[in-house]
Amino acid sequence: MTSTTTAPPPAPPRSAPVWWRRPWIAPLLMVVTAFLLFSVPPYLTLDPSLSRLPAPEGNSLYHPLLVAHVLFGTVAMTTACFQIWPAFRTRHKHGHRITGRIYVFAGVLPAGLLGLYIGWHTAAGPSVRVANLVGSALWLLVTLVAFRAARQRRFGDHRRWMSRSFALTMSIVLSRVVNVVATIVLTPQVDTTFGGSEEMMRYSAASIGVWLSPLVLLLITDWLLDRRKPAARRPADPGAGARVRATNA
Ligand code: HEM
Repeated sequence: MTSTTTAPPPAPPRSAPVWWRRPWIAPLLMVVTAFLLFSVPPYLTLDPSLSRLPAPEGNSLYHPLLVAHVLFGTVAMTTACFQIWPAFRTRHKHGHRITGRIYVFAGVLPAGLLGLYIGWHTAAGPSVRVANLVGSALWLLVTLVAFRAARQRRFGDHRRWMSRSFALTMSIVLSRVVNVVATIVLTPQVDTTFGGSEEMMRYSAASIGVWLSPLVLLLITDWLLDRRKPAARRPADPGAGARVRATNA
């Protein structure tokens, strides 16, 4: 029996990368640098009077722990950018492992544990307190799950959980933006909704920021992860199996 050879179908034209796969590292680094330059300097002075968050009365531990949170948070945010950067991951596998450990053990773990303490002592009321505790606990949990997956060489799970950890690390930036927008929107309602209390309006704006930002970024992250699944599972050439059978018949 003579074997028939079927010419492979022409390769589909290479389409332009979809927008979320375009180079985004430069804008990300710019946003992170702007955030750190704005947020961190008052805490480097170690002067409590320059803090944006007043320490609770009689609590001498709060300010040093807030400063430590800000410093470890800076480590987390900086290393997160390298961890998520595909070119760095593929070209510097050893570097990826080192910055990954710095991200977990000198970034998220200490910053998240300190977040539980300073979050509990917030002056912005119970809604912000609960959001702070939930946010810090989630940050710790998601990052530890991601780290464990890497140790067990379950790299698909590691990528998914690290993407969620990255979203939570960056949620702090979005929460500041949301806070400003909410303050602008709610200011005209000080005399109505907030009974004349500007302080209550500010607590509400802070609460909207700390609840909405992690939620939105986690949803977007999972949506992006789901969008990639079909492409990853699609066989390279669905007709290949049938052609091989016809050729071997
Ligand atoms: C999900 C991650 C994070 C959580 C849950 C978290 C939690 C907190 C909490 C509870 C506070 C006190 C807020 C209050 O009293 O109401 C705080 C303040 C602060 N955090 Fe974080 N944090 C996170 C990530 C980061 C990162 C990555 C940085 C980067 C430097 C950072 C920088 C700061 C700064 C600068 C403050 C002082 C407030 C200000 O000056 O704006 N945090 N954070």
